[in-house]
Amino acid sequence: MSEINGKNRYGYIYLEDTYAPIPEKPLRPALLRLRGISAQNIQEHYKLYRGYVNKTNEIRSLLRTADRAEASPSYSQIRELKVEESYTTNGAKLHELFFDNLGGPGGQAPEPLYTAINRCFGSYQFWEEDFRATGLSMRGWAVLAWDRDYKSLHNYSLDAHNLGMISRIEPLLIMDVYEHAYYMDYGTNRKEYINAFFLNIDWQVVVDRYRMAANT
Ligand SMILES: [Fe+2]
Repeated sequence: MSEINGKNRYGYIYLEDTYAPIPEKPLRPALLRLRGISAQNIQEHYKLYRGYVNKTNEIRSLLRTADRAEASPSYSQIRELKVEESYTTNGAKLHELFFDNLGGPGGQAPEPLYTAINRCFGSYQFWEEDFRATGLSMRGWAVLAWDRDYKSLHNYSLDAHNLGMISRIEPLLIMDVYEHAYYMDYGTNRKEYINAFFLNIDWQVVVDRYRMAANT
């Protein structure tokens, strides 16, 4: 991936020091003008995201000096830090991916993703039914991903930030289905929230991710 002024194309700063703090991405103004998802919801949701970045950095700082000699899979400081690191780091990353694939006009996936979805799922309609049902079934996330091993698209799912992530996949379209993502606007009606999510997908971002992952 090419580097521009110390940042990659997604704006992340390269962190050569393994326990350097991770950067916080700014809230894009477009996210405060979504259809069916209120600005207040997004602002509160963004506070949660910032919490994951801050906790990741707190954990990274503690991991610099944690006692390696005391490491134990039953209980040890380094174990607890490593477990929570997987939770907070994925919490930060998944929210960034989620916020980045919102703010668009929705509609249908453009090419070449549209053809790829049809090829892998049999029909675009089935993909959408499968993705929506995945979102209704899970406690955390629904993820349309490119699977590098199987060279295909698949709807994967997570019950928590660190529970269900599959190796060697590239997340393309990420939908947060935790209650905090919709309760303020829709109460328990997750189905309506998923309808609103689809109205705001930025497919160009998703297609860019697909091109990079699948080398198309
Ligand atoms: Fe969330």
